[in-house]
Amino acid sequence: MGRKKIIAGNWKMNMTPSEAVKLAETLKPLVNNEKADVVFGVPAIDIVPVAEAVRGTNIELAAQNMYFEEKGAYTGEISPLMLADAGVRYVILGHSERREYFKETNADINKKVLCALAHGLTPIMCCGESLEQREMGVTMDFIRQQIKEGLCEVTAEQAKGMVIAYEPIWAIGTGKTATSEQAEEVCRAIRECICEIYDADTAEAIRIQYGGSVNAGNAAELFAMPDIDGGLVGGASLKEDFGKIVFSA
Ligand code: PGA
Repeated sequence: MGRKKIIAGNWKMNMTPSEAVKLAETLKPLVNNEKADVVFGVPAIDIVPVAEAVRGTNIELAAQNMYFEEKGAYTGEISPLMLADAGVRYVILGHSERREYFKETNADINKKVLCALAHGLTPIMCCGESLEQREMGVTMDFIRQQIKEGLCEVTAEQAKGMVIAYEPIWAIGTGKTATSEQAEEVCRAIRECICEIYDADTAEAIRIQYGGSVNAGNAAELFAMPDIDGGLVGGASLKEDFGKIVFSA
């Protein structure tokens, strides 16, 4: 059996709770594709009302971040227990915006990945190179380090259920999508890296998304590539176009 595609919207820091519920109501009838897993990655404050709005549908929720402790004196943070209790299934970890603006390191992300897995949440672990790195020819060296450090102490069984999102930083929010060949090349290399860390079964099972200016026009071609198992979609996930993207899978 092949891998089921997974199309996740990353709403980033957009949508107040009332706007989020409206958007979820608008998208609900447009994303009912049983052939793909459909995920809304919503801001933490929107999780509870959006969970209510999408109850009984095929839509699953993702958080955009999470702390690696269950509870305690960590002012401002959100714990895996809170996410799981609110009905969240996935958590986006190590997005390039969190790495850049909030100085998250591979080691921080690894702690979050391990903690999410321990609480039954599925990490969507992000990786991706900058334009400078691509031009210097160190794309795969950099990504392999992100993957290896991010997956430190994650077992093969756990890795099989995970999602990795390959998001070249130069393609995020820029309208400059990687070509399907460029995206496939890196996604395939990520799968080879997983095979090296674990084994062929794990590499075959793990799902690898592409993200970075995915839209209704380019999604089908990207998702048709053999090692691209769906997308992590920013800007276009806030529009009705997201329905078209979900049905490109
Ligand atoms: P974008 O963002 O689709 O707006 O480029 C993707 C992401 O950052 O996940």
